[in-house]
Amino acid sequence: MKSLIVYSSQTGNTLKLAMTVYTALPGEKQMVAVDDAPVPAGYDCIAVGFWLQAGKPDAKAAAYLQKIGKAPLFLFATHGAAADSAHAQNAMAYAQSLAPDARVLGTFNCQGAVNPRVLLKIRNKNPKPPWIGDADAAAGHPDEEDLGRLNDIVTALVI
Ligand SMILES: Cc1cc2nc3c(=O)[nH]c(=O)nc-3n(C[C@H](O)[C@H](O)[C@H](O)COP(=O)(O)O)c2cc1C
Repeated sequence: MKSLIVYSSQTGNTLKLAMTVYTALPGEKQMVAVDDAPVPAGYDCIAVGFWLQAGKPDAKAAAYLQKIGKAPLFLFATHGAAADSAHAQNAMAYAQSLAPDARVLGTFNCQGAVNPRVLLKIRNKNPKPPWIGDADAAAGHPDEEDLGRLNDIVTALVI
């Protein structure tokens, strides 16, 4: 089995998930930042990780998802919003819509600490984004429990 893990991460939260996915997947595997990602062909599993920006996967990951074609895909994401919020769920659904022909093997998303400078700016915005009320609780995430859950999901994937 041959897997590719592609991640986009500005402050390291999504990178933590990528490292967990990398460790949990069996067989031959390669982990790369989205800027260095190869053509997504010839893999049994492609895992793509993104962070949420304005309610959507960040632009670099979104562009890569549009190249996925029919590949078997695992999606993972971090965000300031609560994991079970409509905001986070809609964003994951949107990510899937960017790769409409992919065979989605599974998804995982959790909160990721928000850069304090960005948080300050966003708090002063009017109107405030819908996820701002969840942002304080994102501090410290992804934590060991998040990574443990991700590990269990990836370990149980049927590829
Ligand atoms: C410019 C900017 C926009 C963001 N927009 C959203 C958003 O729309 N929804 C959300 O839940 N989180 C948002 N966040 C929070 C990040 O998605 C979150 O902190 C994420 O874990 C960052 O991942 P990274 O450390 O891998 O870069 C935003 C953060 C930044 C810096």
